[in-house]
Amino acid sequence: MQKDRYLTFALGKGRLAKQTLELFGKIGVTCEEMQDKNTRKLIFVNEELKFKFFLAKGPDVPTYVEYGAADIGVVGKDTILEEGRNIYEVLDLGFGKCRMCVCGPESAKELLEHRELIRVATKYPRIAKDYFYNKKHQTVEMIKLNGSIELAPIVGLSEVIVDIVETGSTLRENGLGVLEEVCPLSARMVVNQVSIKMEHERIAKLIADLRAVLAQ
Ligand code: PRP
Repeated sequence: MQKDRYLTFALGKGRLAKQTLELFGKIGVTCEEMQDKNTRKLIFVNEELKFKFFLAKGPDVPTYVEYGAADIGVVGKDTILEEGRNIYEVLDLGFGKCRMCVCGPESAKELLEHRELIRVATKYPRIAKDYFYNKKHQTVEMIKLNGSIELAPIVGLSEVIVDIVETGSTLRENGLGVLEEVCPLSARMVVNQVSIKMEHERIAKLIADLRAVLAQ
């Protein structure tokens, strides 16, 4: 371990970062600089603890961690699965809980049961492909979208979607429902494969402290 080396954290922008900093606060890992809402700064430092933090788009967090530009990342399990980067997932942080599901109108249930060749719209083609091809052994046509996925079955672009369901209200308000569950999701801590060895002591302590708080 190099004593004066900074440990760098990449946090997924938005609600996840806010919840991460709240959790880190409970174990004494704080960053005053980050509280300033008007700042245009990109990197925030805690000189005392020798920690650096930066915010990144969720899907970029595993990239920063794989290349070692960040030692540690916090990001949703959906992003980890979709990006397929070489990183270690070390801890389930317990917040941001939701589910990856196959959703659609009630009428699509039958098409799934009979393993018909259907169209699947999704922001998560890797997760959807793995589910349909490897788990269900169903050949489907994948259509990649970038948001408002629920539109696809409504306007006739696809029969079903693979998307995140949290409260289920987006589905309900659009006459759709969960047809199958792919996997549960939540925020996870990920670590660079070299950092976990080189910075083992500091990272192990961080994980142990977080575990203790999460168990309360
Ligand atoms: C996500 C997801 C669903 C919705 C689920 O979309 O893609 O659309 O939230 O939440 P609910 O079950 O609580 O209704 P997001 O708001 O991230 O925007 P997007 O549609 O642009 O992906």
